[in-house]
Amino acid sequence: MNKLIVANWKLNPLTLKEAEGLAEKINQVSPHEVVLCPPIAFLPLVKYLHLGAQDVSPQVKGAYTGQISASHLSSLGVKYCIVGHSERRTMGERDELINQKLQALLHFKITPILCVGYGTAVSQDELEVTDVLGSQLTADLEDIDPKKVIVAYEPVWAIGSGRPATPEHAEQIALYITTKFGVKSVLYGGSVNSTNSESFLSQHHVGGLLVGGASLLPDDFNKIIG
Ligand code: PGA
Repeated sequence: MNKLIVANWKLNPLTLKEAEGLAEKINQVSPHEVVLCPPIAFLPLVKYLHLGAQDVSPQVKGAYTGQISASHLSSLGVKYCIVGHSERRTMGERDELINQKLQALLHFKITPILCVGYGTAVSQDELEVTDVLGSQLTADLEDIDPKKVIVAYEPVWAIGSGRPATPEHAEQIALYITTKFGVKSVLYGGSVNSTNSESFLSQHHVGGLLVGGASLLPDDFNKIIG
C-alpha cells in the first residue's frame, strides 16, 4: 500500500553541494510517496519530486526578521511542512504557536506534518501516552480541519536514540489518533532505519514514516523507501 515517507534532514548537510549530491542519490521511484525536507536555504535548489520544509512562521508578511512564511513556501512549490517537532518544542515552541502555524499553512494549501510526542516517557503505559498526546492534539488542532493534517507520532525518547518504539505500540497510538481526531493519516518517527522500517510500514494504521538520521544515509534510505 502507498504510504508517505518523509526525510527530515534537520540542520544537515553543511553545503549545497552535499545537499544536491544527497538528493541525487535518493531513488526517484518508490511504491511510496517520498518527501525530502532539506534545510530551508537549500530548498529551492535541491531537485526531488516532493519537497517539504521543516518549519514555518505563524505570520504571513510584515516586520518579522528572519522568518519564512507559508506564502514563501507556497511560491517555491512546497507541498508539505513539518510543524511542532520536539526539537522546536524543546526551544520553547508552544501549542498556541503551533496552532497558528497550522492555520498559516492550510491557508496556502500546504499539508502540515504535525509532530506530537514531546513530553512522553518510555516508562509510560499507553493510557498515559494518549493523555499527553490528547491534550497536545486538542490544543494544536483547535479550529483546524483535522482531515487536512498529517500527524507524526514521535515519542521524544525514541528520536535519535537508536531505541524505537515497538511497531505494535506505534499501531495502537496511530489507531487512537486517527479515531479520536480524524486526521488525514498518522506517521511514526523515532530511530527508524532500514532494518525496522518495514515492521512499521506493515502496520495497518501507520500511514508512513518520518525519518531523521537514516535519511542522510542514501543506501539506508533507499532501502526504507523500497
Ligand atoms: P531519527 O529522527 O530518525 O534520527 O530518530 C526522527 C525525527 O527527529 O524526525
